[in-house]
Amino acid sequence: MKRLENRICVVTGAARGIGAAICEAFLAEGAQVIATDCNETALHDFAQKQGCSAMRLDVGCEDDWNAFATQYPEIDVLVNNAGITGFEQGMVAHDPEHASLADWHAVHRVNLDGTFLGCRYAIGAMRNRPSGSIINISSRSGMVGIPAAAAYAASKAAIRNHSKTVALYCAQQGYNIRCNSIHPAAILTPMWEPMLGSGPERAANMAALVADTPAKRFGSPAEVAALAVMLASDEAAYMTGTELTIDGGLLAGSAAVPGS
Ligand SMILES: NC(=O)c1ccc[n+]([C@@H]2O[C@H](COP(=O)([O-])OP(=O)(O)OC[C@H]3O[C@@H](n4cnc5c(N)ncnc54)[C@H](O)[C@@H]3O)[C@@H](O)[C@H]2O)c1
Repeated sequence: MKRLENRICVVTGAARGIGAAICEAFLAEGAQVIATDCNETALHDFAQKQGCSAMRLDVGCEDDWNAFATQYPEIDVLVNNAGITGFEQGMVAHDPEHASLADWHAVHRVNLDGTFLGCRYAIGAMRNRPSGSIINISSRSGMVGIPAAAAYAASKAAIRNHSKTVALYCAQQGYNIRCNSIHPAAILTPMWEPMLGSGPERAANMAALVADTPAKRFGSPAEVAALAVMLASDEAAYMTGTELTIDGGLLAGSAAVPGS
């Protein structure tokens, strides 16, 4: 028996990157997958290729979640994966001194409001199922300060905290719903493309971006997806309110010690 057979699994931000890899891994484990994304064209191309269901969903939009709940009133697994850095339309100030309130809100709307709305929907959609698993994709940026990406870091830190609140709330209510967060760093997805370039400078840019990573390489979306499969499955039945880092050792500590 595959690990996710008979499970209805929903993934947000699934048209590409980590979300797409999670859908593929869930499908390989026998899940019924509903891929969602705000980019309707990319979403439908992806879903057609994978042979899975798809529905347009902007995670920051309450009406979209209500429409989704009408279509899918019961599910077993939700991955709140959709997220933005704030640099999608080009470089803007996201440091604590110069960031605009509008740019701050725009990042929180997707990352934090999206996760809050997703968790709220999932609790209702899972409470009458035998069990449920909510997986929130935070970031290593949710555990450390990031001077040039204040809104991103703050929103990811709030996701980490909200995951624990959801875990405790569900346990208090007697719901068999677990909630955990995953904290990736430097996973090679289209999110990085604007920073890498496509010419001869690409290899040097990639090496520079992982120079501080002990493993000295980017992680792959499939490596993050493997964690999501484990958290979605019964193997993680005793895991709730926890956080899993997947960062090539970046958060393990600092090499800047006497004698190094
Ligand atoms: N790639 C990394 O190195 C890395 C590191 C840490 C955390 N993360 C997190 O992992 C998640 C996925 O990142 P990725 O690298 O695959 O990003 P990506 O940019 O490659 O893909 C993100 C997907 O989310 C969708 N999306 C954006 N806004 C949305 C919205 N409002 N509603 C629904 N969908 C929306 C996009 O259309 C896209 O398909 C994000 O939450 C990101 O913050 C990524």
